[in-house]
Amino acid sequence: MSDITGLGFSVGLASGALVTAAVHYLYSHAKGSAPAPNSVPQGPVAVSTPSAEAAIARLEKQFTISSSQLHAIVKSFSNELKKGLQADNQMFLQIPSYVSNRPKGTETGKFLALDLGGTNFRVCEISLEGRGHARTRQKKYTLTEDLKTGSGEHLFDFFAECVVNFLEEGGLDKSFATSLGFTFSFPVTQTAINEGALCFWNKGFSCDGVVGHDVVRLLQDALKRKGANITVKALVNDTVGTLVSHAYSDPQTYLGIILGTGTNAAYVEKVSNLTKWKGETPNGEMIMNTEWGGFNDPAVLPITSFDHSLDRASSNPGIQVFEKLISGMYLGEIVRYTITDLISTGELFRGASSEELKKPYHFETAFMSRIERDHTLELADTKAVLEDLLKVPATSLEDRRLVKRICQLVGTRAARFSAAATAAIIIKINKLDGCTVAIDGSLFEHYPHFANRMRDALHEILGLSAENIVLSQARDGSGQGAALIAALA
Ligand code: BGC
Repeated sequence: MSDITGLGFSVGLASGALVTAAVHYLYSHAKGSAPAPNSVPQGPVAVSTPSAEAAIARLEKQFTISSSQLHAIVKSFSNELKKGLQADNQMFLQIPSYVSNRPKGTETGKFLALDLGGTNFRVCEISLEGRGHARTRQKKYTLTEDLKTGSGEHLFDFFAECVVNFLEEGGLDKSFATSLGFTFSFPVTQTAINEGALCFWNKGFSCDGVVGHDVVRLLQDALKRKGANITVKALVNDTVGTLVSHAYSDPQTYLGIILGTGTNAAYVEKVSNLTKWKGETPNGEMIMNTEWGGFNDPAVLPITSFDHSLDRASSNPGIQVFEKLISGMYLGEIVRYTITDLISTGELFRGASSEELKKPYHFETAFMSRIERDHTLELADTKAVLEDLLKVPATSLEDRRLVKRICQLVGTRAARFSAAATAAIIIKINKLDGCTVAIDGSLFEHYPHFANRMRDALHEILGLSAENIVLSQARDGSGQGAALIAALA
């Protein structure tokens, strides 16, 4: 037992199996898979007039990913995964996380974790209680546009302020000594468990003075400026945190995936395959942060003109191309581009647009969820989204059906791409005979049918072996994962 928390709690690193207390449940279990909660029929919506039918036929051609296209993606993806293990500056960054041990499940202790995802910033106090029980006290802080695009120092000062505020609310003085795990969900070239430089920003962040700098140092300095007596023990990508936190209860967890504002995956690799890295780990394994959002093989990815428009107008053109096809930050924007195009041809809303629809990112992915979930005869909620929120002057039932079909096409494509990427990793690590994939993120959790569509595509790719793969929802795992990694560190 060791007291590395500084909070006076013991951290036991003995072996044994535990069950996690993080609230997660099997979204879909391999054998005898039960339908996902809220599962509803999901056939295409009928669209009646000739012009609407022509528009749909055109869009289906562009957005539908066939089985053979899925297979081609898996092949190219696997190839690129291997290349990333052998050399730097490849399509996949394949970043060693410096985490080799998955938790045994017996770890105990109390830790702080900071979690910077795409949308929120959370401060958590995680009490690992052993036997799979962990308790979390957490507070979410909103990140304003100013924070996301201002100076790096301002951003890190904000983090430190939140930590001090969180400690004080918990009745602790800022001078209280403790250690923390920092979940930083951006591509970072890690050089140690508590050291790593940001490669580039994404997901709408662009703070200066951070790219190329060690983010642990930036945080540590900011904490010092605020007088907080905290040691940053571990720097963790959210995918790595999700994997580790899920492995706390399920040792068969070999992949951690985020399908939220951004997307990415981490998995357990043999160090002998990681030839670009000179080092060894006690168990010959390393959790790799793939940064799969960077996949961009034009030979296998059928990218539409709408995707190109989105990419060109984004803050990082040509970068994170796969992420822009899949993740929650972008799906609504793809739909917006598609709708705008159909307005310009007069195929939607009789050619009438609205100021709201013209604004980038104003068609939120959450609207797609609402529209896909709308099973009323008149598509009443779709009408509310289009007319009340997006101020489209008037919509016909046919317009609404067309918009719903667009959402289905874009949402289904994202799920199928995610499945292809997942399958490629499972094949790469030879786990077709069974493993658990821990998945966190709003898209997987809340977007209607996403998990089922992923599972269908996994079946198309892997055949019966898909029955051996458990897609397990891991809610808010990255904070707990960071705490565990700090414990293991
Ligand atoms: C980042 C990854 C992160 C993912 C999910 C991506 O934009 O590059 O590091 O894991 O989002 O949050």
